[in-house]
Amino acid sequence: MKISVVGTGYVGLVSGACLADVGNDVLCLDLDPRKIATLESGGMPIHEPGLDAVVARNVKAGRLRFTTDVERAVQFGTAQFIAVGTPPDEDGSADLQYVLAAARNVGRLMTDYKLVVDKSTVPVGTADKVKAVIQEELQRRGVSVPFSVVSNPEFLKEGAAVEDFMRPDRIVIGSDDERATHLMSAIYAPFNRNHDRLVVMDVRSAELTKYAANAMLATRISFMNEMANLAERLGADIEAVRRGIGSDPRIGYHFLYPGCGYGGSCFPKDVQALLRTARDTAGVEMRVLEAVEAANTAQKSVLPRKIRARFGDDLRGRHFALWGLAFKPNTDDMREASSRVLIAELLANGATITAYDPVAMQEARRVMPGLQGLSYCDAPMKALEGADALVIVTEWKEFRSPDFDAITAALKQPVIFDGRNMYEPAAMRGLGIEYFAIGR
Ligand SMILES: NC(=O)c1ccc[n+]([C@@H]2O[C@H](COP(=O)([O-])OP(=O)(O)OC[C@H]3O[C@@H](n4cnc5c(N)ncnc54)[C@H](O)[C@@H]3O)[C@@H](O)[C@H]2O)c1
Repeated sequence: MKISVVGTGYVGLVSGACLADVGNDVLCLDLDPRKIATLESGGMPIHEPGLDAVVARNVKAGRLRFTTDVERAVQFGTAQFIAVGTPPDEDGSADLQYVLAAARNVGRLMTDYKLVVDKSTVPVGTADKVKAVIQEELQRRGVSVPFSVVSNPEFLKEGAAVEDFMRPDRIVIGSDDERATHLMSAIYAPFNRNHDRLVVMDVRSAELTKYAANAMLATRISFMNEMANLAERLGADIEAVRRGIGSDPRIGYHFLYPGCGYGGSCFPKDVQALLRTARDTAGVEMRVLEAVEAANTAQKSVLPRKIRARFGDDLRGRHFALWGLAFKPNTDDMREASSRVLIAELLANGATITAYDPVAMQEARRVMPGLQGLSYCDAPMKALEGADALVIVTEWKEFRSPDFDAITAALKQPVIFDGRNMYEPAAMRGLGIEYFAIGR
């Protein structure tokens, strides 16, 4: 099938590459000429494990192409996957300007049947808006061209995006139109061979499913973070508690890790957007979700608070080594990363920081330009030299089993603040390291 993917970011590039990998002819459109130039010259605009190989393979086979030419993209695909960003608006609601602009382009330029697929995370009712915008453009042109709009929310995880797209847990299709459902089933058939993963439903339910999934996951994290803060005060160990409750199949082990707050391009904005939809569109108060959001905001300040409790409020003259900048391992995504709150708070209290991250330092420089007192270092051990303490914010694999003797030797005093509970407190005590974790 000929497929155009509109928006070549984390979701669009992965979707486009994977759809090409199963034999489709894919054209990826982006308005950012630098992104397209990077891809056309064989480079990768994002860090996503395994994606470079899939892209290279399909470019070479002639099944995956890139363009900034809107008209070419609209003409090309029978299916038009919209995978543009839906960032938070000033009031926290999802900003739909990119989705609607992409839809308007389809209506403005289409000459034959189009299956328009909302892959971006969009509030309930967006498919209706997309439909209306396309219809409006067709009317303006005085033509009648058939089209369908379906919702197909994406559940991939950054850091495992290719694997998630290739072997999805479920493929949600929201469709009120038989032709569209049939086409979507055909597009996803190659990803649906082992057992049926298609969950077909009405459009509004599909739109809400994506928000409900992220809201549930965010809830588990905030719940565990609050439980961890309580465990700490009560002299309990949240890791033991986690294992104790995770063994209950009704609860399960997944997503029960306490830490220094969730970030990324999805949970924070999707929780906020769902709250806005509930309050403004539906007049429904979502008390649990309000608390999830507030608990997460507070959790991002837990590490800086522990640091101030140890070193005092005035951190002038104090220097910290920071391991991890990305909002989670295996990505360079810095959106809403907990590291950004930590860095801002420590700098505001007069400290200086040397940060190390295996892949996110370039992106960090881009999103936090010119911060006085923040420097970067290309090796984790070098970042420790002369620091008062090591602070860990992202649980990269390479931090799991470091040389603790070397850490102790490099730091002014052996102090570690660990926002991801990577080490055993008893082992740290045995090594003479002052160890501050979350809920232990
Ligand atoms: N990142 C994730 O892990 C993830 C997972 C599931 C769902 N989502 C959702 O998918 C959507 C995309 O997220 P992302 O992280 O890939 O975003 P992103 O910011 O990485 O990429 C979006 C891209 O769209 C381009 N763009 C904007 N308007 C355009 C237009 N009119 N035509 C062509 N290109 C245009 C931008 O230049 C950008 O490159 C969001 O709604 C997000 O919530 C993201």
